[in-house]
Amino acid sequence: METYKEYKERIENTIKKYEKEGHEVPDLSLIKTPWQIKKIKEACVINTALLDYISENIKVGMKTQEIDDMVSSFTKKHGAICAQLGYEGFPKNVCTSINEEVCHGIPSRLKKLKDGDIINVDVSTILDDYFADASRTFEMGNVSEEKRKLVRVTKECLELGISVCKPWGHVGDIGAIISEHAHKNGFSVVTQLGGHGVGLEFHEEPFISHVGIKGTGMLLVPGMIFTIEPMINMGTPHVVIDKYNGWTIYTKDNMPSAQFEHQILITEEGPEILTY
Ligand code: MF3
Ligand code: CO
Repeated sequence: METYKEYKERIENTIKKYEKEGHEVPDLSLIKTPWQIKKIKEACVINTALLDYISENIKVGMKTQEIDDMVSSFTKKHGAICAQLGYEGFPKNVCTSINEEVCHGIPSRLKKLKDGDIINVDVSTILDDYFADASRTFEMGNVSEEKRKLVRVTKECLELGISVCKPWGHVGDIGAIISEHAHKNGFSVVTQLGGHGVGLEFHEEPFISHVGIKGTGMLLVPGMIFTIEPMINMGTPHVVIDKYNGWTIYTKDNMPSAQFEHQILITEEGPEILTY
């Protein structure tokens, strides 16, 4: 049986070999220890339970502030902290992004969910200083066929992105397959925002672009943990930021956008989804 020390040496030697061949390799600080992985998984369990709880309770007529209240009370009840509240000054516990809002929508008492809306709810949890991050897009009532297609294709983009997360693969593999699938379906991919390393901090290296070229970018190494969170637009890929709140990102053409996010661990056997 290989000891952990031997395992670690084998991984580090393999990284060195790739580095010599000219590949971009992760800093060793991005490779989580078994203890860190265990703790990050615990944060992810709460984060997933929270998304399940929201999916059971979200409904037409609800104010997005009510989602914020649910996130806050559920998280506290489980002894955890909402990572988004106060993050770089973000004013709420959760991002609620409706229709043409791409991400970072701010919950409000003035915003009510309407029949036919799609809404992304993005939740991030800190448990004992370890971070979890995931999001889902929900369909409210009778959603048009094209919006339902957008939501389905976005979910498929995430699943395809995860499927190529092989150890000793590359970050570029993820964006390559995601953008191919989005474009094939007549949709576009937001490029300014992307996934990210996560676990010991909310946002760590590497940046996970949802467009990319296979075989390029940072090497994927067992022990790395990051999110994949494609934002797929029905119309233009271009986005604008809210002039007043400085946070919310909208599609430039006001066409709908959808997003799904999972947190992934690279293992020697392949990708492990921590936020299922
Ligand atoms: N959860 C988002 C992400 O996927 C980040 C939101 S940061 C916030 O990275 F401050 F807007 F909450
Ligand atoms: Co994220």
